[in-house]
Amino acid sequence: MICLGLESTAHTFGAGIITGKGKILANIKDSYATEKGGIHPTEAKAHHLKVKDRIVEEALRTANLSMQDIGLISFSQGPGLPPCLVVGLEKAKELAITHNKPLVGVNHCIAHLEIGALLTGAKDPVLLYASGANTQIIAYDGGKYRVFGETLDNGIGNFLDAFARLLGLGFPGGPKIAQLAERGKNYIELPYVIKGMDVSFGGILTNLKQKIQSKKFSDEDLAFSAQETAFAMLVEASERAMAHCEKKELLLGGGVACSKRLQEMCRIMCNERNAKMFVPQNDVLTDNGLMIAWQGILQKKQAIKDCSAIDINPRERTDDLLVDWR
Ligand code: FE2
Repeated sequence: MICLGLESTAHTFGAGIITGKGKILANIKDSYATEKGGIHPTEAKAHHLKVKDRIVEEALRTANLSMQDIGLISFSQGPGLPPCLVVGLEKAKELAITHNKPLVGVNHCIAHLEIGALLTGAKDPVLLYASGANTQIIAYDGGKYRVFGETLDNGIGNFLDAFARLLGLGFPGGPKIAQLAERGKNYIELPYVIKGMDVSFGGILTNLKQKIQSKKFSDEDLAFSAQETAFAMLVEASERAMAHCEKKELLLGGGVACSKRLQEMCRIMCNERNAKMFVPQNDVLTDNGLMIAWQGILQKKQAIKDCSAIDINPRERTDDLLVDWR
């Protein structure tokens, strides 16, 4: 069984192709970016509409396959931005109907965890999923992927993007903040907000805004301090989840997990507690069609031929889903 998966929850439109045994055949994507300002859902949708056909064709060409060879189609059902999700849904339906293939909708957050586990060999990890819209600490327990900790307001990536906008930088802001942070020398005290295993970034952003307006601090020092503070919160929450679940593996997922500094901080924590850390390569950490394809394989029993009733689920929760593939 070969699955073609489509990703379109936010800024990336991706198509991935994978076999039932987990052999990667293609992972093609194109992401919407801006010079200045953040992600605009209707502009991201326009981007996806423009690239969707080309991305699917490129994935098939890379895999050296035609639609006849594809046994299953999967797409990101949620969580995500509705205008973006609809593009993936419509393209998946078009392919399923035209070529008479079964279709399955999958959860984007769980797909991050499963592709990470497949590619790194992690057996039963706690996932630190750190991306633009999502910041969750997820682990398997009692038949479901449970959220042990999460952001109470913005995702870490959206926080970094909003901070970057305050400094006049474009989207995505994370890499630009990281560059600035490398030149930062002084740690400036910022609110450190962690409640149990949940984190919150809104107060830090307000505090940063005030500090920028005061003109008393360099952008470099603010970037350095924002990154150190926010990442330390994520590491602390992840460590607590690992202790609580008695799990010895930490898996990273999401675009913000590409940050070398976040990886370094996680590695230090894991070493200190004799745990293993797993990080997939960057094109799998960021949103991609390959993880959706692999999640399709795992949930192939749920695929259906009459796809007229299949819809997006923009607010789908990680812990809503019963995990029957483990
Ligand atoms: Fe994601």
